[in-house]
Amino acid sequence: KNEARIKQLAETRDLSRADLKLLLRTITDAESEELYAQARRVREAVYGKAVYLRGLIEFTNVCKNNCYYCGIRRDNAHVERYRLDDATILECCDRGYDLDFRTFVLQGGEDPTYSDARICNLVREIKRRHPDCAVTLSIGEKSEASYRAYFEAGADRYLLRHETANPEHYRTLHPPELSGENRKRCLKTLKAIGYQVGAGMMVGAPGQTLDYLVDDLVFMRALQPEMIGIGPFIPQKDTPFGGQPSGTLKMTLHLLAIIRLMQPDVLLPATTALGTIDPLGREKGILAGANVVMPNLSPTSVRGKYLLYDGKICTGDEAAECRRCMAMRIEKTGYHVAVDRGDHIALSNGI
Ligand code: 5AD
Ligand code: FES
Repeated sequence: KNEARIKQLAETRDLSRADLKLLLRTITDAESEELYAQARRVREAVYGKAVYLRGLIEFTNVCKNNCYYCGIRRDNAHVERYRLDDATILECCDRGYDLDFRTFVLQGGEDPTYSDARICNLVREIKRRHPDCAVTLSIGEKSEASYRAYFEAGADRYLLRHETANPEHYRTLHPPELSGENRKRCLKTLKAIGYQVGAGMMVGAPGQTLDYLVDDLVFMRALQPEMIGIGPFIPQKDTPFGGQPSGTLKMTLHLLAIIRLMQPDVLLPATTALGTIDPLGREKGILAGANVVMPNLSPTSVRGKYLLYDGKICTGDEAAECRRCMAMRIEKTGYHVAVDRGDHIALSNGI
């Protein structure tokens, strides 16, 4: 029966809510292999064997929010807070360029110290120095005016995971001042402005049910984000969810493959969190349909302070080491690193 569901998903990109839920609940290991094989086929039809690199610059771990799952939440007094100055951020990009990165992701907590004017100047300066590169922002919920200003300064893409599409679940993961409704509104605004937009959720977040995961899939099918970031939830001991279990490798791989089949042209990272719960997690992600990796370009001195969850990998490695290590890992899977911005390929029609 799951064989038929996988076949339908691969051929029509569509499956009913009930079938999605049954597939997630009952898929066997043998059926998983067929699911991953279909995901690889579809991904290769669109993007070939290329894996795109994104250089992640975690420029501030100061955050005004207090999400229950996140290690850099406002109330976590155990975090040593840091902010990178503009010159350091730009140096990270320059170093990244020499290491073949053609996309820079500026990610941080929601830190008002970085004004819109400052973000715009940073974006403009990166684009001036590296006109062949894409700039991605991942700095949280802002006003439409702010999003427009960054876009006009040259930002190409924006990552803002929706975290969970279900409003009740959203309320159990966040304090009352945050709402899933506002989150979704931000995503729609970003799309309307013209960004390539990334949504996504944690797999195995506390309180998550299969119905909620199906809600996520249905929400993303409607939004059609160019990028989808998913990785397992991993507890951070100094947060309210510090005692909760991690999401599983299997469930994450199943979702990566299903997302690839539902949205063949999506840019789908094998995340650091996936590499944290399994030493070969990122490789397994690539073999389940992912086609992006996001090595860290942050200065080694601050890496260990941007800990959204415990056990995060790559915190002790120089950017150059990570880059080499990543190339080796990707080649072992039979794919190769592309020296390319890796923009979204808009599919006009089916494959
Ligand atoms: N485990 C896994 N992922 C996490 N994130 C935040 N905290 C955790 C955690 N404990 C994810 C969120 C956020 C992204 C930047 O990192 O989904 O959007
Ligand atoms: Fe960072 Fe291997 S990818 S050390």
